[in-house]
Amino acid sequence: MEQYVIKGGTSLKGEVSISGAKNAALGILAGAIMTDEVVTVENLPDVRDTQVLLQAMQGIGAIVERVDKNTVRICGKSIHSVSVDDEYIRKIRASYYLLGSLLGKYGKAEVALPGGCEIGSRPIDQHIKGFKALGANVNIGYGMIKAEADNCLKGNHIYLDMVSVGATINIMLAAVMAVGNTIIENAAKEPHIVDVANFLNSMGANIKGAGTDVIRIKGVDRLHGTTYAIVPDQIEAGTFMFAAAATKGDVVIKNVIPKHLEALSAKLVEIGCEVEEYDDAVRVKATGRLKHTQVKTLPYPGFPTDMQPQMAVLLSVAEGVSIVTESIFENRFRYVDELSRMGATVKVEGNIAVIEGVERLSGAKVNAPDLRAGAALVIAGLVADGFTVVDDIKYIQRGYEDFEIKLRGLGAVIEKVTSESEVQKFKLKVS
Ligand code: EPZ
Repeated sequence: MEQYVIKGGTSLKGEVSISGAKNAALGILAGAIMTDEVVTVENLPDVRDTQVLLQAMQGIGAIVERVDKNTVRICGKSIHSVSVDDEYIRKIRASYYLLGSLLGKYGKAEVALPGGCEIGSRPIDQHIKGFKALGANVNIGYGMIKAEADNCLKGNHIYLDMVSVGATINIMLAAVMAVGNTIIENAAKEPHIVDVANFLNSMGANIKGAGTDVIRIKGVDRLHGTTYAIVPDQIEAGTFMFAAAATKGDVVIKNVIPKHLEALSAKLVEIGCEVEEYDDAVRVKATGRLKHTQVKTLPYPGFPTDMQPQMAVLLSVAEGVSIVTESIFENRFRYVDELSRMGATVKVEGNIAVIEGVERLSGAKVNAPDLRAGAALVIAGLVADGFTVVDDIKYIQRGYEDFEIKLRGLGAVIEKVTSESEVQKFKLKVS
């Protein structure tokens, strides 16, 4: 079992380059098979989630050629099955984007039902509502979702009951080659929604309004090949911004779109950090002790739920009492018990965490309960006195490319290890 071992107390300094957005990449890779021509995807984050989705695509016959670490060439012409093997779904939920892309291209698709996960039950009723509105029959049985259109899919006016990133992307994928026009009301507006829409438009789709809560799609007969570079990862960037703040560092985070980070930058300034914005970079500096605040997670452009654990770690060593409200997922405070073992004072009541800042955290052995909470516990280890071992880092590797390498580049004392003896060797080396 791979672990991170961290010696806390170093302020992060220097520059770090952000990779492509995982949550854009998953919709884009699924959409790439909607043409029989070659699609080249650049700035692809080399993380477990994209690796597994590419395997699932190869599993149904797509040709996937790895040009380099962050570039793949995909051709969907040789797809021989519209049934996605459930072992991939169990590994990553977002394989369900293949439902939308296969249904959109072939008029039918069969994908294993994604399980719940660490942060909540995560139903997909809105995805199914969209597919049915486009004329597909959707049946669930034996752990599989089967969607099939008797004839071709027809555009429709779809009202999402709640803002859903996944449903917005999945319905876009299914609708781009439907006959007629589709309108998605109450659509999600995240940067990765806009990126998937831009990608599909570069293949010849006709999507307008992505980034607003009304997306209008004119169905086209076919899509063609393209070369497309994925947008920088807003959440990876935010994670490094918060790591810089937590360690009282001075870091330039490069290859970002500052506008996507506004909710994060605003909060950092509010609690006492200096944030400078450049064309494609932000600089985060923190010197004194940070101040308490209140934060509530909201759909974009609100404060992102994927940055909630990282914010809580920052506030756990800030001065005063802070309130963190999680309004998107029902079970996203599972890291609190681990953080408390490092000396944090956090009380969770329902979807609210009350955090009383402490002077310092102390290193401990902790487990990463999910992707973003794992990253947050690494930040806690960077801040804590002494040594921290973060276990179950497979979750972190799902969404962060070369995480420990990038942190070491900023001066962090961190290594990936696979055994207790390696932990001891690390401790001797850095003591
Ligand atoms: C995407 O998940 C992201 N994952 C999540 O990032 C992110 O936290 C989330 O959007 C919100 O921004 C990917 O893009 C692969 P939702 P998704 O549909 O699409 C409920 C990470 O760390 N809902 O916007 O599953 C749902 O339960 C991951 O990178 C329904 O009830 O999120 C949740 O409470 C974690 N029915 C809320 O809506 C549905 O059909 C928002 O979920 C769909 C969603």
